[in-house]
Amino acid sequence: MNVETPAHVPARLVRDFDHHRDPVITGDPFTAFERYRDDRIFWTPAYGGYWVLTRSADIRMILCDATRFSNRHGSIPAAGWPRPLIRQELDPPEHGKYRALLIPHPTAGATGPLSTVLDAECARLAEHLAPAGQCDLVAGFSRPLQNALFTNLFDVPADHADQCAPWIAELLQRTDHDLRSRSVAAITQYVRHRIADQADHPQLDSRGLLPALMTAHFDHRPLTMTELLDIGFLMVMASLDTLANSLSFSFLAEHPEYQRRLARDPAIVPNAVEELLRLHSVVSIARIATCDTHLCDDVTICAGDRILLCLTNANRDPARYPEPGNACFERPDSNRNVAFGLGAHRCLGALVARKAMTSAIREFHHRIPAYHLAEDARPQVSGGAVCSLDSLPLTWPKRSIRDFARE
Ligand code: HEM
Repeated sequence: MNVETPAHVPARLVRDFDHHRDPVITGDPFTAFERYRDDRIFWTPAYGGYWVLTRSADIRMILCDATRFSNRHGSIPAAGWPRPLIRQELDPPEHGKYRALLIPHPTAGATGPLSTVLDAECARLAEHLAPAGQCDLVAGFSRPLQNALFTNLFDVPADHADQCAPWIAELLQRTDHDLRSRSVAAITQYVRHRIADQADHPQLDSRGLLPALMTAHFDHRPLTMTELLDIGFLMVMASLDTLANSLSFSFLAEHPEYQRRLARDPAIVPNAVEELLRLHSVVSIARIATCDTHLCDDVTICAGDRILLCLTNANRDPARYPEPGNACFERPDSNRNVAFGLGAHRCLGALVARKAMTSAIREFHHRIPAYHLAEDARPQVSGGAVCSLDSLPLTWPKRSIRDFARE
């Protein structure tokens, strides 16, 4: 729903922009903002109206100031849940108590048994793909890896990730309110069933996140059903979609020289992953202003205004990263990007996501050191809260693993 421009928004800053549907975004979401870079901020009437910031310093400032820029009711368009969800829409200090409860779970995945599972899964997938000479990277590599992370984190059967992933995609990439409300209901129901399964069969000794939360103590008491549902909802939403899309966009199909470097020098992969995350920052975050903030000249962000922070804007700001569109694996401050957010809500899965991406890029390029986009391939990009890639058809010379090893 588009609205009239509010009186405090200067007419010169109004743009026809929609982060879900704009054809420029769905063409290439990562270069799309170049055209707006001259404006430090602009306003769009889409979805009831919101500001969009374009500079790294401003985006970082807002991410770090949860007092003036709240996470409550921030989704654009409105998320479709009936009340502010515990955790994802809380601000400090309440938010911090729940965050502390969750920190050990995804974090442990970066070093513990989950890390071994991810390494093995990356090697297995790449080994399976290599002799075929072609694949759809999204269906054949990125999603299976994301699913392995999900099923291990929740300790659930493999097909559960496939069941949940479409609901998450509808929530993050679609704008239809009824559709999103149905997805919210379906995810909530999924989490409710997992909690009921565990309550009915406590002897099963599950290693999953939900059973751990069901026995956890919070403020000297167990978590309530509402808290469990909301935290479970957040973890399902956060652990699907972001990893598969960040990984898929990272494959530089048009750049053989980068592929060669990744294949020949595995030591550069961790730094390359930081640079690839910077170049392809898929998440856009919304905040809502709690008070008036004078930004510059005649621009005041007023209490109640919503603000969209497209993290790719911060990570491709030439004022912070010289030649921001180039992949420079030796960039000294690559890891100081905001692909995982910043401040109180900074991604809790960042360590395990980095671990999974490093393993994936290393194992794939080790077995498939040179590949290109299949002829006539037209990968479709969707905008929204997380930019997504529907497919990435790749081809490479058909050789056996032994041939690759000899080269
Ligand atoms: C490459 C993959 C990923 C990217 C790019 C990513 C990005 C982000 C970003 C930008 C935020 C901040 C949201 C905000 O400020 O409102 C965030 C939050 C979060 N992420 Fe991730 N994420 C990824 C993977 C994961 C995974 C695999 C998990 C779980 C295992 C996870 C769990 C979370 C959680 C729980 C939060 C909420 C933190 C809080 O509100 O305190 N993320 N993520």
